[in-house]
Amino acid sequence: MDKTNILLLGAGGREHALLMKLAESPRAGKLYVAPGNGGMLQIAQAAPVNQDDPAEVAAWAKENGIGLVVVGPEAPLVEGVADAVRAAGIACFGPSADAAQMEGSKEFAKKVMARAGVPTAAYRSFTDRAAAEAYVRELAGPCVVKADGLAAGKGVIVAQTTEEALSGLAQCFEGAFGAAGSTVVVEEMLEGPECSLLALTDGTTVVPLATSQDHKRAYDGDLGPNTGGMGVYSPVPEHVVSAQDLAAMVDIMERVVAQLGSDGITYSGCLYGGFMLTAEGPKVLEFNARFGDPETQVVLPRMHADLVETFLACDKGTLSPSMMSWDDDWAVSVVLASAGYPGAYESGKHIAGVEDAASQEGITVYHAGTRLADDGTLLTAGGRVLDVTAVGPTFAEARRRAYAACDLIDFEGKQYRSDIGARAL
Ligand code: AMP
Ligand code: GLY
Repeated sequence: MDKTNILLLGAGGREHALLMKLAESPRAGKLYVAPGNGGMLQIAQAAPVNQDDPAEVAAWAKENGIGLVVVGPEAPLVEGVADAVRAAGIACFGPSADAAQMEGSKEFAKKVMARAGVPTAAYRSFTDRAAAEAYVRELAGPCVVKADGLAAGKGVIVAQTTEEALSGLAQCFEGAFGAAGSTVVVEEMLEGPECSLLALTDGTTVVPLATSQDHKRAYDGDLGPNTGGMGVYSPVPEHVVSAQDLAAMVDIMERVVAQLGSDGITYSGCLYGGFMLTAEGPKVLEFNARFGDPETQVVLPRMHADLVETFLACDKGTLSPSMMSWDDDWAVSVVLASAGYPGAYESGKHIAGVEDAASQEGITVYHAGTRLADDGTLLTAGGRVLDVTAVGPTFAEARRRAYAACDLIDFEGKQYRSDIGARAL
């Protein structure tokens, strides 16, 4: 069998999960990561490239015999890394810059949804602060203020009152989210449980992966500020997402990919739909142009697939649902974060107990913000440090295993939510 050398871009728990699954494939050749983290660098070599520089990534891949570039995060996609890699004749997993606008611009995504007839919150978009302020005063109640561009999951203000909405507008227009906030979307507030659905697509065939539910707030009980995600479980049980809801979500993903196709944009890679399950059925909160983090850390462990073959098929236009199947068990992942996250936090704390935790039944510990010191000890190097994922035959058992493993890991300032998945029980 031909082996394919792989360059994976990114440094989070999502990328560690992707790397471990790619490494399982009999087709995987040499594995490189840029920039990687303490866990990824135990199984792959560092590639000295800036992941956000399309020309640099493409040139390095070409010089080093790479056959597949896998892009983890959104920023390189929006910058055009996939376009440059494909132009160099190398397969890439991840959408083109045009297609990645589904995540890169909320207004672009809203327009595609409108053309595709996909249900989402009613919205208006503004570049003028006074006009936006007049609109939220007119709404005189709950609404959601979103910076249009990429803001690392932080550019969304869910405002219960006009005052909160006005302060959200002030943050956007005064530059709290950089250029991402120069266009602002104000939308209707939706209510209901949230559900994520990832799908792989080659631009024509759309293969839904398992459902999952993220926990975005920092503290127990969904309190505190929004984060990149503090924990997640998969699949979402039927009393939360019915078979009918799921069919509607899959239909929405298919309609969006087809709409982009008829607009002349081939979307290939992973499309991530964030949904609110409202009384009128699922409505789209957002699309992302990549795998979710931490959703990937509960979806991939239950998936049986040759990920190298599957990713190459997404690039070549030969994806088929028969390329994957699913375990019947449940997965729960708890994020261990640094004290202070999502605000300022300290790095460089010694991490103990990862091997012990990882040797427990059903447990995989994915690294997010970690690095290896020169002497090989593991140090914290980010806000989200580790994702402790457990699979188990029941939801309750997976959850029990995850929390028992969290107790075995120690670093100064370790914080985590103790109620991941509590709602699904
Ligand atoms: P987004 O990055 O657009 O998914 O927004 C982050 C979070 O803000 C979502 O996961 C929701 O919890 C919340 N949110 C976003 N849009 C809305 C909306 N229209 N109604 C209610 N909550 C929302
Ligand atoms: N877990 C949310 C995201 O990946 O955007």
